[in-house]
Amino acid sequence: MFEQLKTLPADPILGLNQIFQQDNNADKINLSIGVYQTAQGTTPIFAAVKKAEQQLIDLQTTKAYAPQAGDPAFVEHITNLLLGDELAKTLGDRVATVMTPGGCGALRMNAELLIQSNPNATVWVSDPTWANHYPLLQSAGLTLKTYNYYSPETHGVDFAAMVESLNAIPKGDVVLLHGCCHNPTGADLTKAQWDTVIDILAERDLMPFIDVAYQGFGDSLVDDAYGIRLAVSRLPEVLIASSCSKNFGVYRERVGAALVITTSEAQTAAAKSHILSAARRCYSMPPSHGGAVVGHLLSSESLTQEWKSELESVRTRMNSLRQGLATGLNQAQSKIDFSFVSQSKGMFCYLGIPQQDVLTLRSEFGIYLLESTRINVAGLSEQNLPVIVERVADVITR
Ligand code: LMR
Repeated sequence: MFEQLKTLPADPILGLNQIFQQDNNADKINLSIGVYQTAQGTTPIFAAVKKAEQQLIDLQTTKAYAPQAGDPAFVEHITNLLLGDELAKTLGDRVATVMTPGGCGALRMNAELLIQSNPNATVWVSDPTWANHYPLLQSAGLTLKTYNYYSPETHGVDFAAMVESLNAIPKGDVVLLHGCCHNPTGADLTKAQWDTVIDILAERDLMPFIDVAYQGFGDSLVDDAYGIRLAVSRLPEVLIASSCSKNFGVYRERVGAALVITTSEAQTAAAKSHILSAARRCYSMPPSHGGAVVGHLLSSESLTQEWKSELESVRTRMNSLRQGLATGLNQAQSKIDFSFVSQSKGMFCYLGIPQQDVLTLRSEFGIYLLESTRINVAGLSEQNLPVIVERVADVITR
């Protein structure tokens, strides 16, 4: 049966993380996979999450199956967190939320819905986009094409080129947008640019499919939802794939949500039934624990406040490390102006150094970043920052 199978290449992100784990270099530094680390190099559990988890364990009386759409408290509160209470209330049953195994599960379930609704629709993704968007969506049967997004020259969004691309997308297609904290570049749309993008989508009858995995890591929980809320209030149909891995730090628990907004309650109910049917075909229902923890946390005013303040500390620290990297690199060399690093948002940014230098950093110093030059800003620390600055400056000025 399996004789003809060839071993596949490793995933570009998970595979590199695996190589890092196996590296014996005592001084190795992991800037590859998007995981937050403290000054001590650990990825702690948020105190509010730990408390919610403990309370949930004490309260839980059964391990019988949970509802197929997921923990009801999670479904309600995650919808409100993404859309804001008022918009969620206005939409009523025009929005359906289904809990999924992580953001990947949400992307895939929405992809399955798209295939059932319009198998000929093309999904347009930013150039570049998160590497896993391709296998995740294409293997559901969708065709992916790219729209212009990032300029390696300015290290920011090439908005004129983006607008030109969006204006050329055929009516009825789907545009995948990063809700905030663009992965891999960290280059985000401004609010004024979001306004223009949503105008174009409205004029051209294009449907947004918004991937949001870093709400609260950019500017704030509310600011980071600007694009989502605008799209949902202006457009008749929107798909959202949300992940709680990073902002609740529940990576391994696999907590996400697929949201669908349509023009009527009946259409939303039909769309939801297709998502549930796809889930049943693939994994039946999501694991309950992580979503129930997030649902329990968000049901408690005090735990929610505690989580929000922890999230703010994480964001503030990431911003100061990002600033430290930009300043440090600019002081250590004059070949590349790294000021753009301080403007990036969220967990990632492209360093924009030659690819050969990425490989040298890995082989000589055990500093791991993706070959695209993407670094995980949340992997920087007060301890490793001076070392990274010195070594990057060394390698790029040879
Ligand atoms: C990343 O981009 O590093 C994270 O989203 C983790 C992943 O699954 O790729």
